Amino acid sequence: MQTAIKIKESSVEISVPENEKLSGKIPFFNPVMKFNRDFSIAIAKIFNVRRFLDGLSACGALSIRMKKEIKDIEVNANEISDETIKFLQQNKENNNADIIIRNRDLNLLLNEDANFDFIDIDPFGSPVQFLSNALLNARHNTIIGITATDLGTLCGIFGDACIRRYWTFSSKTDFDKEFGLRNLIGYVAREAAKYEVGVEILFSYYFHHYFKVYFRVKRSRSRADEMLKNLNFLLYCDKCAGRKYSDIADASITGNFCGCGKLKILGPLWNGKFADVSVCDLLGKEVKEKTEQKILTLVKGEQEIPIPYYDLHKFCKINRLQVKGTEDIIKIAGENGLKTARTHFDGTGLRFNGDVKELVKILK
Ligand SMILES: C[S@@+](CC[C@H](N)C(=O)[O-])C[C@H]1O[C@@H](n2cnc3c(N)ncnc32)[C@H](O)[C@@H]1O
Ligand SMILES: [Zn+2]
Repeated sequence: MQTAIKIKESSVEISVPENEKLSGKIPFFNPVMKFNRDFSIAIAKIFNVRRFLDGLSACGALSIRMKKEIKDIEVNANEISDETIKFLQQNKENNNADIIIRNRDLNLLLNEDANFDFIDIDPFGSPVQFLSNALLNARHNTIIGITATDLGTLCGIFGDACIRRYWTFSSKTDFDKEFGLRNLIGYVAREAAKYEVGVEILFSYYFHHYFKVYFRVKRSRSRADEMLKNLNFLLYCDKCAGRKYSDIADASITGNFCGCGKLKILGPLWNGKFADVSVCDLLGKEVKEKTEQKILTLVKGEQEIPIPYYDLHKFCKINRLQVKGTEDIIKIAGENGLKTARTHFDGTGLRFNGDVKELVKILK
């Protein structure tokens, strides 16, 4: 067995391989992912999860914490690597955590036993290779949590990879992080729809180098149809940073809404809510870190304005305007009867429910 280092997180101490690099530059154990684990444990608590699958458990940081922090829960930790299983086993014993260790390819396991209340999928990179089997097999009301770290692809930097993996048109935008999250949720919805499954989005967010989406599986044809109403193309203008959702069934997607004459068709993207406000409130009672509370407050405030945020610095540069203080813009917009909201995606971003011309007017 490789040499180990010990890491403390919350209530547990776990051993992980020293200097292990399993995939490119991504470290084997990532302390930044503590929030990811905190939110998954909070989701399990508020939805009273009794049977949990940590689909890609690695050394068991999430599984062992889940077992220690929640009473009466069956925790299944699944990991394919024989070497990593040794660490998982040792961590189970050292923490006296009565978890069930499974050593299967997650896609096979999902076809053999998907009878869980909550399935968490935390891969290196994209979750696409596991999503289809999860949606095919999960039962009605199962919660699925997916992590994605392939931000370059999801956010519009690698257009070819985005077509291959997600089958969406992407581009660099001034709201790249939101583009990535809406791109990912849109993909989940299309994958679900083909199995006549709808998804109910519980909570999603962006942090540091990853996206997380928690949703509930609804095995219902009408829920699937309803869900698909939240899929739209997004028309985007490079010249003035104007953006507008366009119905997927609308043939007039070349509409020149900003007057510049050159629009890109991006997506399809999810234009529905990316978090349920009442779930945000419940999560707020469970998570303890200041940054987690901040994410929740911002995400909650973002849900009323589906149009992606504007990066105010970039917007002012593109449109040759002087940068104004965000508070001033919020005030002037309010005086003009327009809604604004800050965003967790970007400190200099602002959501705005008016169009580009109205924003330019306010900034002048
Ligand atoms: C990013 S790590 C998981 C980290 C873990 N969730 C945590 O919080 O520490 C991904 C893990 O998935 C495992 N894995 C990759 N492909 C798999 C598959 N098809 N089935 C099961 N496990 C797999 C890898 O060996 C790796 O340990
Ligand atoms: Zn324009």
